Amino acid sequence: MSDLERLQKVIAHAGVASRRKAEDLIVQGKVTVNGKVVKELGTKVSPNDKVEVEGVPIAKEPPVYYLFYKPRGVISSVKDDKGRKVVTDYFPEVEERIFPIGRLDYDTSGVLLLTNDGDFANLLMHPSYQIDKVYVAKTKGIPSTEQLKSFKKGINVDGDRLKAVHAKVISTDQKKNTAIVQLILHEGKNRQVRKMFEAIGVPVDKLKREKYGFITVEGMNAGDIRPLKPHEVKQLRELADKNVK
Ligand code: URA
Repeated sequence: MSDLERLQKVIAHAGVASRRKAEDLIVQGKVTVNGKVVKELGTKVSPNDKVEVEGVPIAKEPPVYYLFYKPRGVISSVKDDKGRKVVTDYFPEVEERIFPIGRLDYDTSGVLLLTNDGDFANLLMHPSYQIDKVYVAKTKGIPSTEQLKSFKKGINVDGDRLKAVHAKVISTDQKKNTAIVQLILHEGKNRQVRKMFEAIGVPVDKLKREKYGFITVEGMNAGDIRPLKPHEVKQLRELADKNVK
């Protein structure tokens, strides 16, 4: 998961000590994670881990929630070994340790939520969280009605059954042999939309996530961010509570 952070960074962020001092505290055996002493500097922790310094729990950051209109050409991660642009590069002013809830491919644009609230992220990413994720794909080729029907039944790709809740052609360009197709998914498997179209021999040229539940990027430009409103967070949580058993 992309919400893991190095222990010394987490301690420093909580305002307990500088990064250097935090490293000393770890090596000296003064830091516990979930009740166990950890002396390893490379140890990574998630927001759900309980970190204590000399027996005192570190303060939790207040939870924050953002909507990001992810442009194409950005990685859904907090860092990249190859130095490519990552989503958190768009949040230079945000001090909290935010991470993306799920991911969009490097070349996919659209709605992406970010938070530092691990519980909230886990809730939304739970497989039984049946929220509509609406994708619009520009395809090279025009899918047939039968092919779109097969999406709704579910198709097997590499031993995985991939399913759409809804699939419809919005428009076609017969001359260029392209189509604009809307797909609604409840699942969020890796590269799911691209794999489904590849499986029927109609590859995706461009892909955008237009909606995540009731959240859209309407009125925003690619690269824009905005905090989610408290009622939006509440509603997303309520939707999840209803479905996650
Ligand atoms: N499906 C894909 O193929 N890519 C995404 O980024 C999201 C869903």
